[in-house]
Amino acid sequence: MMKQYVAKVLSQHVDLSEEEILNVLEIPPSREMGDVAFPCFILAKTFRKAPQTIADELASKLEDPMLQAKAIGPYLNFHFDRSKYAANLIEEILAKKDTYGKSDLGKGKTVVVEYSSPNIAKPFSLPHLRSTMIGNSLAHIHEALGYKVVRINHLGDWGTQFGKLIVAYHKWGNEEVIRQNPIEELVKIYVKFHEEAETHPELEDEARVWFKKLEDGDEEATRLWKWFVDESLKEFEKIYQLLGVRFDHFLGESFYSDKMDRVVDELQEKGLLVESEGALIVDLSEENMPPIIIKKKDGSSIYATRDLAAALYRKDTFHFDKMFYVVGNEQSLHFQQVFTTLKKMGYTWANHLVHVPFGLMLFENKKMSTRKGTIVLLEEVLQKSIEMADQIIAEKNPDLPNRQDTAKAVGVGAVIFNDLKHNRMNEVNFSWEEALNFEGETGPYVQYTNARTQSLLRKSDFTEQDLLNIAGEFLQGEAAWDLVLLLSQYPDILIKAANRAEPSIVARYLLDVSAQFNRFYHQERIITENKEEQKAKVGLAMATSYVLQHGLSILGLKAPEQI
Ligand code: ARG
Repeated sequence: MMKQYVAKVLSQHVDLSEEEILNVLEIPPSREMGDVAFPCFILAKTFRKAPQTIADELASKLEDPMLQAKAIGPYLNFHFDRSKYAANLIEEILAKKDTYGKSDLGKGKTVVVEYSSPNIAKPFSLPHLRSTMIGNSLAHIHEALGYKVVRINHLGDWGTQFGKLIVAYHKWGNEEVIRQNPIEELVKIYVKFHEEAETHPELEDEARVWFKKLEDGDEEATRLWKWFVDESLKEFEKIYQLLGVRFDHFLGESFYSDKMDRVVDELQEKGLLVESEGALIVDLSEENMPPIIIKKKDGSSIYATRDLAAALYRKDTFHFDKMFYVVGNEQSLHFQQVFTTLKKMGYTWANHLVHVPFGLMLFENKKMSTRKGTIVLLEEVLQKSIEMADQIIAEKNPDLPNRQDTAKAVGVGAVIFNDLKHNRMNEVNFSWEEALNFEGETGPYVQYTNARTQSLLRKSDFTEQDLLNIAGEFLQGEAAWDLVLLLSQYPDILIKAANRAEPSIVARYLLDVSAQFNRFYHQERIITENKEEQKAKVGLAMATSYVLQHGLSILGLKAPEQI
């Protein structure tokens, strides 16, 4: 905001566009030096003068009601008139409400975000939670920046594991039992398959035969597969419901089962397909990568083939400008292989495919594994979190109306925020105590701070409509001014988060805003006798509230009015 303002004013005096100026503006190392600085070296060539001289000349020329310009060496430093600046910003936010922060940067462009993508007949695991929440917020961020966003769930609903599952079902499955508890029971027989296969390797061959049958459209295989898929989807839907996450398309791996011949044919035509030990591969040794297998010895397809088919299909269907794959970093090599193969096929758009990797998630400092049965069921985690939030709220605010909804917003929010506040490549640990701490760096803390801003409005003598003509002179104290500056950064924060595909930038920012608001709240009397002062301060609180609400919704959290 401040930079934008300076760029606008300065562009009238120098031969640079607002955008060019914006790119070079800096924030001086200390507040006393100014709020924004323009390095005049940039102009030295065109002006044929020393940067110091340019700075001096510009300083004497510039006149603006909100800005004061001063030359400090080769820099032109700007000081804002705090009171005018604060009033303008608050009025702007209160006028824009929940559109403050939005822009049309991405207008006319389409972004595909592929995320969540859990595996059928397996529990919804913590890595899938990370993918779901990171992807969901990347979708929100791009939407806020004006992109058209297509959300895709690439369900793991195809592959040899279904051959195994069918064999296991035939041997040890019981329809009734599975219907009652589908995922748990399917995992049980799947684990049993692996145990038995250690001493009876012929089971693996049987499984391969059944997957081949499935790929060839065998009736029995298809019927069982479809049943496993439907039961799993019901469970996943419950989780998406709780998390408040949606998709435009569920296009699982099976969707591409009839679209892989095209890939094989095309690779063949382009002379990229090589036979190796009976399998068909694409050699990537020039790129220093292991080969990518396209077809196995028995003619069945694999994961990578489906990813190639999916990329081609999505490009044809959605004409995206950019596509994000939100998948754990252990699959980095896989995506590099897929992207490289597409480039070898001559598709330059493969340069706009982005793997968004993320680190492991631990639960109470322990690793999870499906095989070892130490998997934590996400639905149980969410339910427990809601219960714990409910207890905390019951103590804090026993008379709170619709406590159930609030507990849900806070309990689920705690889990989501805990995931998103870390740089996505870092390992994340989930601990109950940490995630639900109302005073820690948590979702509940931000939500609680937002509720506090709302309660100020209720306690004040004003309604939101009265908050016009803010008297900025009451917002010159350090706490208020720092808060104003933070709020002014929000539009930039969203852009930065999009550029780095990093929701934690938004999460950390919300923690900063919350901490700064609480400093202001504790240091200053807000509901004062002086009506103009009260209005200015409540106005700042409401502006804060809009930013917190918008930021929370970007991350996928609700913002209850009262907690
Ligand atoms: N289902 C896969 C897994 O759980 C993730 C899918 C990732 N997306 C993709 N296009 N390969 O590991």
